[in-house]
Amino acid sequence: MNQKRLVFSMLPLMVSALLIAIFVVFNLSVKTPLFYSSNLQNHPSPKQFSLLIGILTRADNYDRRHFLRLIYGIKSPPFAQIDIKFVFCNLTKQEQRVLISLEILRFNDVIILNCFENMNNGKTYTYFSSLPQILSQSYDYVMKADDDVFLRLLPLALSLQPLPRSDLYYGFVIPCQSMNPFVSYMSGMGFVLSWDLVEWIASSDIPRNDTFGPEDKLVGRWLNAGRKARNRFSNKPAMYDYPGSKDGINGLL
Ligand SMILES: *[C@@H]1O[C@H](CO)[C@@H](O)[C@H](O)[C@H]1NC(C)=O
Ligand SMILES: *[C@@H]1O[C@H](CO)[C@@H](O)[C@H](O)[C@H]1NC(C)=O
Repeated sequence: MNQKRLVFSMLPLMVSALLIAIFVVFNLSVKTPLFYSSNLQNHPSPKQFSLLIGILTRADNYDRRHFLRLIYGIKSPPFAQIDIKFVFCNLTKQEQRVLISLEILRFNDVIILNCFENMNNGKTYTYFSSLPQILSQSYDYVMKADDDVFLRLLPLALSLQPLPRSDLYYGFVIPCQSMNPFVSYMSGMGFVLSWDLVEWIASSDIPRNDTFGPEDKLVGRWLNAGRKARNRFSNKPAMYDYPGSKDGINGLL
């Protein structure tokens, strides 16, 4: 009788212990295959460069993030370290604080910037200028991408491989008919800056004083004003807007 009561009183404790155990086992079983595969390579090919892809999105776009995680859940090309993070501004709802905490625990792929959610009021500036402070490592390249583009990581990495690692501005040059990467700026659907330019954006007055307006056009204007990005590369026609859709899905590479 006493023993029975003891078991019942311990039931909540046992259930929570079981849940924690399941959580741990689940995490381990997801992580170990990666661990094994890198151990199995006798001579892992050295990473030639690293790329951070920040997908600018909103906290409430849960389904979009889950979809993109599935798409990008494949392995990076062996010669490049590619990290993908979802980037949004301050959380504003109690529900977001709970759900996004869980996402961070599970996937560790979220960057929350100190800003109020916006598109053309400085979010792109906040993104680039915050990175040197908030990242624990630097990257050779940093990309800003929208959450309605599809990136094929291998062609993207192959196209970056031969390019300069510094003073680089890469993307899909606007206006659409322009084939000159210096005329005039890279489309906001997805563009890449080398790390020195990210550091410059974080430290220079030029971007800091000019953050309101079409976010992609501003980046081009900052770089021109600062006489930066002497290396420019427009990856047409590999990058494109999906034909016939003005506001729909963008195709990339
Ligand atoms: C974002 O949230 C932080 C922490 O709650 C707060 O200190 C900061 O003022 C907020 N920033 C904006 C722009 O709302
Ligand atoms: C940026 O703004 C500050 C304060 O208004 C001003 O002192 C500085 O000269 C400006 N810098 C540039 C590069 O426009």
